[in-house]
Amino acid sequence: MKLIQSNIKKAKKYLDKNQCIAVPTETVYGLAGNAYSNLAVKKIFKLKKRPSRNPLIAHYLNIKSLTEDCFVNNDFMKLYKKFSPGPITYILNLKKNSKISKYVTNKKKCLAVRFPNHVIFKKLLKQLDYPLAAPSANISTGLSPVRASDVKDEFGSKIKFILDGGVCKIGLESTIIDVRHKPKILRLGGLEISNIQRVLNKKVTISNKPSKISAPGQLNLHYSPGIPLRLNVKKVKDNEAYLLIKKNKKTKPNYFFLSKNGNLKEIANNLYSTLRKIKKSKYKSIAVSKIPDKGLGKTINDRLIRASKF
Ligand code: TXA
Ligand code: MG
Repeated sequence: MKLIQSNIKKAKKYLDKNQCIAVPTETVYGLAGNAYSNLAVKKIFKLKKRPSRNPLIAHYLNIKSLTEDCFVNNDFMKLYKKFSPGPITYILNLKKNSKISKYVTNKKKCLAVRFPNHVIFKKLLKQLDYPLAAPSANISTGLSPVRASDVKDEFGSKIKFILDGGVCKIGLESTIIDVRHKPKILRLGGLEISNIQRVLNKKVTISNKPSKISAPGQLNLHYSPGIPLRLNVKKVKDNEAYLLIKKNKKTKPNYFFLSKNGNLKEIANNLYSTLRKIKKSKYKSIAVSKIPDKGLGKTINDRLIRASKF
């Protein structure tokens, strides 16, 4: 407990000085900086090698701090009450007098906001009088980190401080929903769409359907382990790592199992770690067996399709 407190104090010190640090969330680790500071936000983009046109998510402790910067509406309130803090990000209209740095949104009039559900991150936010802009703590297009050592892998000594909060419980990024007009999912994520649909009790469109595997090149590379990856593979090549969804008896040294018995939550939770492990090993490519395209399986397939654009 004492160690946590002193680490949070340290984290605040860096953030108050416009430095960026890594923070734990329930989805993936974030690379955080003061969302009101141009200087801090510019550092995030530089460290991540992220194009400036790709906006960031601002992380708030609760709705009270949010309403200083954004307008809220009924659909937002319904979802907020049910799912926040948690793995959902909302696109909302910015207020004219919002203090959010123009670099967070790339000068757009809307902001992506999230309320993270991690005890250490929440404790940190309580100490701050500004929200934290935080993309996933990886170099652009790479795998998101799900533990402190993954962040170290990504940035080495370039990162000043990592607030260690253990392994991320979900292991996939948040679901992004634009709630300004008719609700629209912009990114599949850790919260299943059926849950969102049930609470809103109206049709939710998805503008980010993973493209068919037969239509390559339509999506930009993202969530990539940095080596080629093939999908829906039944027959693995000799020197390829083979990603399977559940343990089976016929195991071989190049077989990597994502769960004991095919549970999608467990598969999601092990996905990035396993890909990272393979990346560090001798394998030059990855084959993935078929993953059921339902519930969280849709998010997993979305990530793998993008990773396969290598
Ligand atoms: O779970 C998560 O969402 C993690 C943790 C750290 O919170 N964050 C995360 O951030 O995944 P990032 O930057 O890796 O992905 C955020 C996505 C990007 O694809 C970005 O284009 C989109 O959110 N985004 C951010 N602001 C937006 C906006 N104003 N309108 C539309 N999309 C936006
Ligand atoms: Mg990311």
